[in-house]
Amino acid sequence: MASFFVSPVLQLHRVLLLSWFLCAATALLPLHVAAARAGAASYVTVFTASFAASGTTCDDTGPAIARRQRNGTSAVLRLAHRHGPCAPSRSSVQAGPSFAEVLRADQRRAEYIQRRMSGSGAARGSNKGDLQLTAGSSRSATVPATMGYSIGTFQYVVTVSLGTPGVSQTVELDTGSDVSWVQCKPCSAPECYSQKDPLFDPSKSSTYSAVSCAAEACLELGIFGEGCSSSQCRYVVSYGDGSNTTGVYSSDTLTLTSSGDAVVDTFLFGCGYAQAGLFAGIDGLLALGRQSMSLKSQASNAYGGVFSYCLPPKETSTGYLTLGGPSSASGFATTGLLTAWTAPTFYMVMLTGISVGGQQVGGVPTSVFAGGTVVDTGTVITRLPPTAYAALRSTFRAAMAPYGYPSAPAMGILDTCYDFSRYGVVTLPTVALTFSGGATMSLEAPGILSSGCLAFAPNGGDGDAAILGNVQQRSFAVRFDGSSVGFMPGAC
Ligand SMILES: *[C@@H]1O[C@H](CO)[C@@H](O)[C@H](O)[C@H]1NC(C)=O
Ligand SMILES: *[C@@H]1O[C@H](CO)[C@@H](O)[C@H](O)[C@H]1NC(C)=O
Repeated sequence: MASFFVSPVLQLHRVLLLSWFLCAATALLPLHVAAARAGAASYVTVFTASFAASGTTCDDTGPAIARRQRNGTSAVLRLAHRHGPCAPSRSSVQAGPSFAEVLRADQRRAEYIQRRMSGSGAARGSNKGDLQLTAGSSRSATVPATMGYSIGTFQYVVTVSLGTPGVSQTVELDTGSDVSWVQCKPCSAPECYSQKDPLFDPSKSSTYSAVSCAAEACLELGIFGEGCSSSQCRYVVSYGDGSNTTGVYSSDTLTLTSSGDAVVDTFLFGCGYAQAGLFAGIDGLLALGRQSMSLKSQASNAYGGVFSYCLPPKETSTGYLTLGGPSSASGFATTGLLTAWTAPTFYMVMLTGISVGGQQVGGVPTSVFAGGTVVDTGTVITRLPPTAYAALRSTFRAAMAPYGYPSAPAMGILDTCYDFSRYGVVTLPTVALTFSGGATMSLEAPGILSSGCLAFAPNGGDGDAAILGNVQQRSFAVRFDGSSVGFMPGAC
């Protein structure tokens, strides 16, 4: 019942570049509610009390691999958990959502990705341009801009500098969308929500310009275009959780590293003059999807279409985002990058099997994975076809049984939970994911359990798209180039 096309990435006409992501912790909260939760600094995706390293200080010694990559042809950005002590601008109005809230938002994101992949989130699309449908027979499968084109589940942030002179902006990374934006001055509540850094002021930047309506960049916005006003190109992005941003499509200098050696001169982004929804605290969003408007695509001339990231395993540590490197996939377990023509924003691979304790989980025909697997930094929990999930769960439970850990109540979408409170040390069976061509991700404990629960959940149906979530990606370097996705353990 796979209902979309999977084509080799060879047909991609654009090189992709960067990535990182976000996760949506506040996605179900109205802004004022999120703001009212001041002070609750941590939502916990660390797995058990015995491993929980939540703290108030950032261990920012920096990832060694990122330091190695820092040279003239790549740009490395420090990546931090949005709600942890390493976040570059922890707003006093910003609070971490509960794990239950994270799981609810995560389910909305996962369902949204599946709608996109199956084309059923499509339909009343715009005919203003179909950038996102570059090939294939599914040209009717555009997604309406008004109903969740992108996804509002954000978790990881980087700090960049925008304009001349440069102004620091802390933005969420999103591999699941293509248009970047920041809130711009003049703008007051309620159109703009409160953020920690000053609003970006275009009038103070000597390199700023609004994109004109006739410019190619404006036409390329496609369904993200919102017409013309005072001869300025308007944009709009609506996210899967109902939040949105609208304003003037703009260009200015983007500086990616503090040393100023990584610059995108005419970076196209939205100057947001009206935002609604769940962005509390961040200054904007850095979009790393695969289409032409994304930073990845805009920076591909400078950085050669390669990027990598490492999501920190704990809130108290940092990871990195690297544009342009590493140049070689050596050391990575690689699998082919695939494209769903219904949702070409996404990075897709083919999961083929799962093992527990070194043994392949049986009873799972490869066909259940035929819908492909989206590598998504913004989804928290990995989603598997129901048949694969059921087999994983029963194998995992059986492997845990000899240890006698008491079970704990299900938590939202997570139905295999344990009470480890009496244990200082917990032993888990290893879990490994195998992809087309044999690439394997051997997960460490933080990629197996979240809050004491097996950190996997079923998707809508066998043959639907699976999603490789950020719990499983943490601490791996994940590298993307024009044709493959690679994984390397223990990178941050
Ligand atoms: C953004 O969302 C708000 C609240 O749902 C809505 O009132 C507004 O019309 C939306 N704006 C756009 C441009 O879609
Ligand atoms: C710098 O990084 C690029 C991209 O990863 C790589 O090709 C190049 O070999 C590196 N140069 C040095 C001197 O490490």
